[in-house]
Amino acid sequence: MVVRMRHLLAFLALSLLSPLLFAGDLSGIWVSSVSQPDGHTDREVLVLQQRGNQLTGKIERPWGSLNIHQASVDGDRFTLIAKTDDGYTITCDGALEGDKLRLAVREPNAKPYELVAVRSKTDPFLVSNVVAPPAVHDLPPNGPARTPPMGWNSWNLFAGRIDDKTVREIADALVASGMRDAGYIYLNIDDTWQGDRDGNGVIHSNNKFPDMKALADYVHSKGLKFGLYSSPGPYTCAGYEGSYGHEAQDARTYAAWGVDYLKYDWCSAGRLYPDAAMRAVYQKMAEALRATNRPIVYSLCQYGRDNVWEWGPKAGGNLWRTTGDINDTYKRMMEIADTQSAIAKYAGPGHWNDPDMLEIGNGGMITDEYRTHMNLWAIFAAPLLAGNDVRGMTEDTRSILLNKEVIAVDQDTKGVQGHRADKAGDIEYYARPLDNGDMALVVVNRADTSTSLKIPWSEMHIAEGTKVRDLWKHDDFPAREDQSFTIPAHGSLMLRMKAPQ
Ligand code: GLA
Repeated sequence: MVVRMRHLLAFLALSLLSPLLFAGDLSGIWVSSVSQPDGHTDREVLVLQQRGNQLTGKIERPWGSLNIHQASVDGDRFTLIAKTDDGYTITCDGALEGDKLRLAVREPNAKPYELVAVRSKTDPFLVSNVVAPPAVHDLPPNGPARTPPMGWNSWNLFAGRIDDKTVREIADALVASGMRDAGYIYLNIDDTWQGDRDGNGVIHSNNKFPDMKALADYVHSKGLKFGLYSSPGPYTCAGYEGSYGHEAQDARTYAAWGVDYLKYDWCSAGRLYPDAAMRAVYQKMAEALRATNRPIVYSLCQYGRDNVWEWGPKAGGNLWRTTGDINDTYKRMMEIADTQSAIAKYAGPGHWNDPDMLEIGNGGMITDEYRTHMNLWAIFAAPLLAGNDVRGMTEDTRSILLNKEVIAVDQDTKGVQGHRADKAGDIEYYARPLDNGDMALVVVNRADTSTSLKIPWSEMHIAEGTKVRDLWKHDDFPAREDQSFTIPAHGSLMLRMKAPQ
């Protein structure tokens, strides 16, 4: 009994003392605010609960939360690993120094960085009054994008480093390089243009864009169209101001600036609404844009969730992303390509599946892989939004982006999206029927080595002797079963078979 009492007393003493063993309590909301040269404040939020040496909670990003999966506390120091539901992982080493938290953060595809966070009473990313989205109804087509939109977008190469000067230079280069005349008409500024709202709630551009109207005028003066980016949530994916609660006002501002294209990126709306509300939330901005009476291409960017292809057009979308983000690797480009055939039937004039913007010319793939990227996007009737530095293109990049015969397939007015029709080992055949009765064919060699093959024309119901055009060699030849084609590793052919006369 005495022994038990002693144990109990020891236990009680330890329990009372234990908070003292952990010199400071880490529990609370911690916010680090770092001012950027463009006037924007980058925020990192940690919500922590400490019990003894147990640490739980989450890291908050504008686009969502990462829950703490693993953590250890040692006095005033801790280490934690936080993950999103789909596995994006951040590791953070922290130390409590007085009333500040010093953090060293590591995450994929970024250099390790350090932050200092202070306690906050509120979580700046939390919205307490969520506005109910409108009741859904089917919107009629809005007119533009009868063929897949073509142009250029700032994100893939410049990300947050886009500014007024660069946009003007890109506009000049789109003209000088022949891109505009080949159809690349939309010049779209992606995330990080937004500044603050004024007292009336009107959105202004940040320091990088001193006068958005003047910039749009400049772009228009070059015979181009002008696009911007926002989010239905309070923040964009990069943490800039979104359109939440200001949809109609923002649509009017865009129209007054002369915006012709809006990419609307789900991002922080995911904190407010379940995926099932996406259609209604997207419809809200579609109606706001339509109320301006300016034809504005409306691009839904919600990563292909909730089978967007089934409701995208009804919500007023002219195109909708079908997957998460592309990156400049053959692997990712092909992963995305692999998901496109199954949804081909949903695309058509005015409403397109969007397998994301082009990486051609950004340096992460070899020329044959970039040709495959272009061929597949064209066979899929995908929007062609170049994402490279068009101010200085290599001959290879130029020849790919400016291949007019391939562009003509992409822009074919029949508007039928092609699909993978056959596969034999590493060789894949993609087919697309065209307006004049011709058929486009892409043959991809997924192997890591070059291969020679004979095309089984008869299996494709192509008669021997049918006129075939090679859209890269720019010559014609008759279809012959015994003809051999060599396709380099990860490369592809693009052919156009004449309609039977
Ligand atoms: C998301 C989109 C990208 C790009 C970034 C900008 O990741 O999918 O295309 O717009 O946001 O932050």
